Amino acid sequence: MKLSQSAALAFAASALAAPSLTTQEKPRAAAAACASAVTLDGSSNVFKKYKLHPNSFFRKEVEDAVAQMSDSSLAASAKKVADVGTFLWLDTIENISRLEPALQDVPCENILGVVIYDLPGRDCAAKASNGELKVGELAKYKSEYIDKIVPIIKAHSNTAFVLLIEPDSLPNLVTNSDLQTCQNSASGYRDGVAYALKQLNLPNVVMYLDAGHGGWLGWDANLKPGAEELAKAYKAAGSPKQFRGIATNVAGWNQWDLSPGEFSKTSDAKYNSCQNEKTYITTFGAALKTAGMPNHAIIDTGRNGVSGLRKEWGNWCNVKGAGFGIRPTSETGTELADAFVWVKPGGESDGTSDTSAVRYDSFCGKPDAYNPSPEAGQWNQAYFEDLIKNAKPKF
Ligand code: GLC
Repeated sequence: MKLSQSAALAFAASALAAPSLTTQEKPRAAAAACASAVTLDGSSNVFKKYKLHPNSFFRKEVEDAVAQMSDSSLAASAKKVADVGTFLWLDTIENISRLEPALQDVPCENILGVVIYDLPGRDCAAKASNGELKVGELAKYKSEYIDKIVPIIKAHSNTAFVLLIEPDSLPNLVTNSDLQTCQNSASGYRDGVAYALKQLNLPNVVMYLDAGHGGWLGWDANLKPGAEELAKAYKAAGSPKQFRGIATNVAGWNQWDLSPGEFSKTSDAKYNSCQNEKTYITTFGAALKTAGMPNHAIIDTGRNGVSGLRKEWGNWCNVKGAGFGIRPTSETGTELADAFVWVKPGGESDGTSDTSAVRYDSFCGKPDAYNPSPEAGQWNQAYFEDLIKNAKPKF
């Protein structure tokens, strides 16, 4: 944390005098958190009231990318990407330091999206996003990661937060329990997720738990165990009030309502009725309800502008030819779908294509994966440019 808690409070207090910004003006240096404490209602759709904030960290990445462009029409389109609401990832203990600066320009009508992503033994079924904490370091996850984030959110009680809890973690326990790595990670994931949900259950927060996507927990055999695994974590956390439901398609490529779905012609398609995310959140949502858990959803549409690119449904790494997708909105046309959001910051890599790297994952070497690609989370300028060129809707 860069500011002490008291400095942060003083800053918030001084912000009260600042004029409020309209959404048309770029909310940059001027801070205009709400004039009083924000109380979010986990039983309603907060995206009806708040707009997902275009965070300053992603803005900087995009501005740096624009500065490298010689094609002025591409640069003009690229600039607009900085204004799209996108989640901020706290993917290491060190990167918690990104939160305080990202809080300085959130106007009262916006909500800051934050991804909680640092479980011990992270990314147990793949290599590209293996994290800093080892299996067994749950105490460190609690005290040095979650417990450091909580006071920052408390100190910014005048700001609204939407938290997305631990992408891929519980879905991996449902479908990859044959892997020794996922068996080793299991108890840390379960306890860690429950701890995060419990500690982050603050009045100015709503939370969504990652639920993979239709091509993952949407298989007939995975729906019930998937819903039960997630519901167990929710209940272990004491059924937190600020918990709203699930996040799907995070960093994913699935279409919202394409029919028939992208993979509906494959020989095993008969075992999966969730061929698009809309049917997935509806079908899985029903299973969640049965399992006793809130079941509203947010869906990552950050990179799903183009369909038909993947050779196989499970291909997840830097899919070639992808384009930015639908901009964040609460107009989803489906009651269970609270909002389309951008979670994965488009331009940041899913994993390295360098076969000699420790975190090289063979999925990042597949023919449909962009090559060359840097380490997960690192910027890939060429890939970012393609996302703009292929964006649907266009920029
Ligand atoms: C990947 C990376 C992580 C990064 C995130 C967003 O999961 O492992 O470091 O923050 O993507 O780009």
